[in-house]
Amino acid sequence: MTTEIEAIRTAILEGAAAEDLAGLPLPTAFRGATVRADEQEMFAGVPSQEKDPRASLHIDDVELPELAPDEAFIAVMASSINFNTVWTSIFEPLPTFQFLTRLGKESVWGARHDQPVHVVGSDAAGVVLRVGSAVRLWKPGDAVTVHCNYVDDQDPSSHDDSMLATNQRIWGFESNYGGLAEIALVKANQLMPKPAHLTWEEAAVNGLTNSTSYRMIVSPNGSQMTQGQTVLIWGAGGGIGAYAVQYVLNGGGTPVGVVSSPERAALLRELGCDAVIDRKAEGFRFWSDDQTQDPAEWRRFGKLVRELVGTDPDIVFEHPGRQTMGASVFVAKRGGMIITCAATSGFMIEYDNRYLWMNLKTLKGCHFANYREAWAANRLVCEGKIQPTLSRVFPLDDVGEAAYQVHHNLHEGKLGVLVLAPEEGLGVTDVAMRERLEPQIALFRRHA
Ligand SMILES: NC(=O)c1ccc[n+]([C@@H]2O[C@H](COP(=O)([O-])OP(=O)(O)OC[C@H]3O[C@@H](n4cnc5c(N)ncnc54)[C@H](OP(=O)(O)O)[C@@H]3O)[C@@H](O)[C@H]2O)c1
Repeated sequence: MTTEIEAIRTAILEGAAAEDLAGLPLPTAFRGATVRADEQEMFAGVPSQEKDPRASLHIDDVELPELAPDEAFIAVMASSINFNTVWTSIFEPLPTFQFLTRLGKESVWGARHDQPVHVVGSDAAGVVLRVGSAVRLWKPGDAVTVHCNYVDDQDPSSHDDSMLATNQRIWGFESNYGGLAEIALVKANQLMPKPAHLTWEEAAVNGLTNSTSYRMIVSPNGSQMTQGQTVLIWGAGGGIGAYAVQYVLNGGGTPVGVVSSPERAALLRELGCDAVIDRKAEGFRFWSDDQTQDPAEWRRFGKLVRELVGTDPDIVFEHPGRQTMGASVFVAKRGGMIITCAATSGFMIEYDNRYLWMNLKTLKGCHFANYREAWAANRLVCEGKIQPTLSRVFPLDDVGEAAYQVHHNLHEGKLGVLVLAPEEGLGVTDVAMRERLEPQIALFRRHA
């Protein structure tokens, strides 16, 4: 840690005034979690499951880029692991340096991102250090969380739903200078207030997954669930799934959560999800071999859902992809929706289209969230109506191990990463609200 970073950290921990923070010199370099361009072939020929993020993720010193007029530097107190950092670290489905090269061709400012190291991470909670000359609404000293929709608002296509912008990107995945670093570079339109009742690490885990689940469940751009609907949620104890469960419960729906262990089933029940399927205990084999699905297993799965909640799901919250999509399309109710944002187990999907068209179902794609949606999702966290799902915390130096755990489905909810925060438990400014919500906030930690 440079002396400049140490001084910034001390000032934040001591609650320094905004003008004092603004006056502190910035370092010329900072530490961040990176993958390196000269290592992007390191796993050539290795099966996906054996590609090890602990070998490809490094903590490197990175030169501080110049700040553009619409941007801010954030002192990152904590960040989190998202699955996109797993994808980056195993260089699948393609090395992210290709995204940086493309961004580099867009403008002089874009060119800063095209570097031989990629600083990863799509979440952050921290404090604004500097803002560019065009930034109106934020200033040094503001405690913030960051959402990862990285949009150039000069593009007309971004002015309805910014997720439809032709050059929409995910920060820290398709751009450089992400959140798993002492200093992050963000656009001002990625900033949101930090929930006052949460610690840095609790505040850092929500941005990406909470916003994604908000759009998928709540927003008209997603499935726009209404009261009384039933929602089947794959991976309901995981990153996006555990927020989806909360949105369904908050909105008066009935979640049916799928998980793969009795411990996760117990966690879900404590979260308020009464209908739980342990897919491992039930032994579902939707594929009888690599090329052939087994419709009898779809039917067995659908029967179990009906037994649990008395109806087929109005909405299926889909992300495992190839392994589950056949079952998802089959089990959705006549006229229902399968909403998908990912394909963890493979993106070349097969399903029986007769069940889709004959039963008038909709298969809808969904991706992250626009600023309005991310803001609404963050506001619900600030109001204590959505809880963080932090289960474990790692120091920045162990980011490879944290990514490894996500890659191998060894975690529940979200894994936090301490960056400038020297220990857990710091950053709470609304103590009364925290005390009131402590049992719910700590649910995933208790189960870890
Ligand atoms: N498009 C977007 O904006 C967006 C945003 C966030 C995430 N994503 C993507 O969504 C996916 C999930 O992200 P996440 O953060 O929730 O990851 P996560 O924390 O790893 O959770 C995924 C869950 O899915 C379940 N799962 C894994 N493989 C499965 C399989 N073959 N069949 C059934 N269930 C399976 C696991 O639960 P059990 O083993 O307990 O069943 C796991 O807890 C990733 O691919 C990620 O890249 C996309």
